[in-house]
Amino acid sequence: MAKPDTPHTPLGTPVPKSLKEGGTIEPVREILWGTSAGVRKYETAEEVPPDMRKLLVKLMVVQADTEFASIQQHRPWLDSAPTLEDRWIEARIVADEARHGLQACRILRDFGEEGQKMIDELLTKAEGHHKLDAFNMKFDRWSDVGAFTCFVDRVGVYQLRAFQECSYGPLARAMPLMLSEEQLHLNFGASVLRRIAKDEAKYYGDKAEAQAAVNKWYPRALDMFGHSGSETSRKAIALGLKRWTNEEARERFIQEVTPLTNAMGLELPPADFDRHIL
Ligand SMILES: [Fe+2]
Ligand SMILES: [Fe+2]
Repeated sequence: MAKPDTPHTPLGTPVPKSLKEGGTIEPVREILWGTSAGVRKYETAEEVPPDMRKLLVKLMVVQADTEFASIQQHRPWLDSAPTLEDRWIEARIVADEARHGLQACRILRDFGEEGQKMIDELLTKAEGHHKLDAFNMKFDRWSDVGAFTCFVDRVGVYQLRAFQECSYGPLARAMPLMLSEEQLHLNFGASVLRRIAKDEAKYYGDKAEAQAAVNKWYPRALDMFGHSGSETSRKAIALGLKRWTNEEARERFIQEVTPLTNAMGLELPPADFDRHIL
């Protein structure tokens, strides 16, 4: 028996140290990096300084735009994916991306009229008119869904991880749930690609088709990190908004996906193959 003054859950197990009385994990309140490291995080839109406000709004517009665009891309496969399980996961992905879009728009909404104007524009964007190339391409084949979720959603995870514990409190606190949902998407993508590459006859397509999908989406995924040497990415780090420069994040991504793709019996094209943004 534990001592009577040790906090316990209703089932009698001791409460982990990270849980305070009341059951909440204490949020990190200070800015952890950049020029304002050690100062309290910005918790409301009103507190955010003008240069950071501009960048934060821009980043949230891009974030929301990718979420809404991917719903348009996935939509045709909701009731035409190869198996029932695939259709169910497609439906989950679409629901998750809608929630992520809503989450980014809630942050935009905090920025008053300026944010609301951005939301209104985002909600009228038609397919093919989005900011990033990866989100203007259709999923013509089921292998596109596999390669997109494996590579493009994975870049999305890098972008979200770059915001983890960032200097804007409401954004930092939105990250854990978004990240856990994205994890499902990219695991699903890898499994779809693997099944296409390895179980050709039983599932869908063949290895050559899986390789073609890799060659189509991998360059667009690498482009998503943005220009190397970008001033904006350095500014985002100085403001405590992002953790890595574009090239650092892109390099980490390449290190991660190379063994993953090779294990499927597939190859990644060179990093400069078919690239639009270097
Ligand atoms: Fe998302
Ligand atoms: Fe996703």
